[in-house]
Amino acid sequence: MCGIIGYVGEREALPIILDSLQRIEYRGYDSCGILVQDNSADGKFQVHKSLKSIAQLKNNLAESEYTGTIGVGHTRWATHGVPARRNAHPHFDCEGEIAVVHNGIIENFQALKEGPLSNCRFKSDTDTEVIAHLTKKKMIKTDSLEGFELQLKEAVKACLSELMGSYAIIVTAKGFDGLVAARQDSPLIIGVGDRENFIASDVPAVLEQTNRIIYLEEGDIAVVKKDSIYIENNDSEVKRNERLIPWTTEDAEKGGYEHFMLKEIHEEPKAIIDTLRGYLSEEGICLGLECDARRILMVACGTSYYAALCGKYMIEHLAKVPVQVELASEFNYSDFVLDDMMVMAITQSGETADTLMALKKAKRFGCKTVAITNVVGSTATRIADDAIYIRAGLEIGVAATKSFIAQLVIFYLLGLFLAKMPKHRLEERISDLELMPLLAQVVLDEEGENIQKQAGYLSNYANAFFVGRGVNLPIALEGALKLKEISYIHAEGYAAGELKHGPFALLTEDTPVIAIMTPDSTYDKTVGNVKEIKARGAPVIAIAEQGDEEVEKYVDRVIRVPKTGAIFSPIANTVALHLLAYWTAKERGCEIDKPRNLAKSVTVE
Ligand code: G6P
Repeated sequence: MCGIIGYVGEREALPIILDSLQRIEYRGYDSCGILVQDNSADGKFQVHKSLKSIAQLKNNLAESEYTGTIGVGHTRWATHGVPARRNAHPHFDCEGEIAVVHNGIIENFQALKEGPLSNCRFKSDTDTEVIAHLTKKKMIKTDSLEGFELQLKEAVKACLSELMGSYAIIVTAKGFDGLVAARQDSPLIIGVGDRENFIASDVPAVLEQTNRIIYLEEGDIAVVKKDSIYIENNDSEVKRNERLIPWTTEDAEKGGYEHFMLKEIHEEPKAIIDTLRGYLSEEGICLGLECDARRILMVACGTSYYAALCGKYMIEHLAKVPVQVELASEFNYSDFVLDDMMVMAITQSGETADTLMALKKAKRFGCKTVAITNVVGSTATRIADDAIYIRAGLEIGVAATKSFIAQLVIFYLLGLFLAKMPKHRLEERISDLELMPLLAQVVLDEEGENIQKQAGYLSNYANAFFVGRGVNLPIALEGALKLKEISYIHAEGYAAGELKHGPFALLTEDTPVIAIMTPDSTYDKTVGNVKEIKARGAPVIAIAEQGDEEVEKYVDRVIRVPKTGAIFSPIANTVALHLLAYWTAKERGCEIDKPRNLAKSVTVE
């Protein structure tokens, strides 16, 4: 989704805004824009919009031309209107006195354009522009600066009351010594500084400057000046607590790796260790949940959905508690019967619009809800009754990697937690869990070069299938998703036994199949499937355990993962598939951290 940033303080705004935008470019990157208000009494707007990357903008913009200590910036993920300079933010009212940057969707923008704003001259195809025109329409002339501040805040409020949809906005007006911010169903934070403050769509935008964060709540409207922050909700002033965020700027940097994705794959062992550490104690597994779930419903999107599918196998295997997994976007509009289920929202960002909607629906039905997320204070944690944090650390690459692994770890913990097994058996299982970081590390250390070689081979093809069974079926789905999103190779994940029911029609010598061949109870069946695939001429790359020599007889190429019990095999298999996707994309020269058309957290339905 779009990234937004606002600065008000005593330093030059431009370099701060550009730096912040670059840190949240993963939210969307098809165009960008900045505005700096000069320090004259009129507060002239200096604006630049571009289709270039923020890095290019940093090189091209002369700081001397954009001087001033108040400004806003925006990096766009197009919803209404193609990527073009006219559609880049900020957007203005007719006189160019009010400027708005926005993340979200204004659903009734057309009706507003044709109704109350029909006499306004629109310059873009965006939904956002109505906010600037409507705010301006609601302004009442006043001469005093104090009066102006009140008028602006009230005008923004009046405007918002006529909007339908979701928004996180920052509004600035010529000559006003602050910024007005508001949120509804889209995340927005305030970074608190010393004689300066920041507003941003997410924390990494401001981490370089401050780790004192205020999370705005639904319906909040804030007036932020260099030495004051005023927040109101429902016409009354409210106090929002400041939190200290543990992430550091180092987390937001590549640390010598060429891409964030590669760095984050290499952080998978650490993500496992940190997640385990958070919940293992002398007494066993401590998830902070009062939970006696007899049925669980998981709702999620994208990679988190595949993690949830894997979680289903783990929890059902370990705890024998039935788990149902639904795509949040489908669940929201279904007649699904919610009874006494515990509903878990799996979302690394805690901000995915479809998943938040699903959580709200579950709450309306009176279900107990839990958010499983990586982001402390995210919207999901504020909607749900309880939160379980994965401890993957800051993840910047658009393709989720270490957060996926950390989600798997949480499901193992949940499975064991719900299993209520005798202490000695639990201790054995926990010892197995403690081996997981090592399994991930072995793949990184011992198989990296071979995976790179296999990626060189895979990169020559236009289509691929990924197959797996049981707990590794979701891993096959994840492998295919990762490959398609960053290398643009068309890839589909399938249950190994399903390929013959249709997809076989597509198998040729140009359709490699990546088969997860963990030696579990389904191994022989998978071998059978692989033989059928080979008989149709398709080359097969196996993900197989060390020591499984038999597999060489059936497949063309092998990627090795360490030996482990079947239920723990997804960890090493995932690391291997994440690396395979990465190196394939690298071989094809793709923009790995910023795959085309995507965004890290999708805050629209
Ligand atoms: C976007 C991201 C995916 C992610 C999905 C769900 O589509 O590009 O990588 O899996 O959102 O995100 P969540 O934050 O809810 O896990």
